[in-house]
Amino acid sequence: MPLVPGRELLAEARRGGYAVGAFNFNNLEFLQAIVGAAGDAGRPVFLATSEGAISYAGLESVVALVRAAAAATPVPLCLHLDHGKNLDVIRRCIEFGYTSVMIDASDLPFEENVAKTRAVVELARPRGVSVEAELGRLVGVEDEVSVAERDAVLVDPEQAGEFVRLTGIDSLAPAVGTSHGAFKFKGEPKLDFDRLRLVAERTGGLPLVLHGASSVPDEVLARCRDAGVEVPGARGVPQDQLLEAIRLGVAKVNVDTDLRLEFVAGVRSALNEHPSRFDPREYLGPARDAVRALVGKRIRLLSNVK
Ligand code: G3H
Ligand code: 13P
Ligand code: ZN
Repeated sequence: MPLVPGRELLAEARRGGYAVGAFNFNNLEFLQAIVGAAGDAGRPVFLATSEGAISYAGLESVVALVRAAAAATPVPLCLHLDHGKNLDVIRRCIEFGYTSVMIDASDLPFEENVAKTRAVVELARPRGVSVEAELGRLVGVEDEVSVAERDAVLVDPEQAGEFVRLTGIDSLAPAVGTSHGAFKFKGEPKLDFDRLRLVAERTGGLPLVLHGASSVPDEVLARCRDAGVEVPGARGVPQDQLLEAIRLGVAKVNVDTDLRLEFVAGVRSALNEHPSRFDPREYLGPARDAVRALVGKRIRLLSNVK
């Protein structure tokens, strides 16, 4: 089926009280794993490419691969630009057929973030492309930090309401204490749910997006350790906290790190077990299958929120 605009998947998710997974890919194996898992589960997904993924794989190749995957699967897929910062890249993604783009101007002062985000909405809207933007900084916040320090980095709920009114975006990624990568928390993992609840109120039910949402599961870490991947101290967002975030208004959950960990464990263990193999299909294939299983489990978790 054709690629669908992000806002359609998110509106449906809000109505159903679940979240759509957004999974990043840089290569064929991850794309096959994600689309395969979505098909197995019969659920839609966002296929997310960062600017780095686009420069690694090439925009034309990304779009051609995703179009071919979409034509062969019955589930709705959205091709999404993740953390777009460069207006030329955003413009090219829109021209090439992306159905959702994120403008990440969260490192700019509020007014400049508003202006840059509005400019992207004006580019995207006539083409039916959905727009996500970000407010606040994605950093893990420890329990011990002061209220002032917390306020300085996390989203301001009042500003969030104003930002949505001024920009006309389709979804908002508010910083509520998650961060990217495998090392999210030094102490106990804890998202700022009070802040998230206020953001949801002030933004009038707009679909919210949780970045940095990998949960870094113990069993994946165990497979990493067994295969010789060194990630001591890795810690993600506990899955019950993902579900709580969805109950409060999150409709898109971004996951990249968990796929990377599962994939590297799969490649390393295949190479360790069979030191004489050098056909890439023999070590990429098992890793791809492991990522497919992980993504399938995650999609089911996100879609069954009670
Ligand atoms: O949020 C960032 C994603 O995990 C993509 O990361 O810029 O290394 O491709 P990347
Ligand atoms: P993780 O690093 O937690 O997987 O977050 C991915 C993400 O937010 C992509 O935008
Ligand atoms: Zn992100």
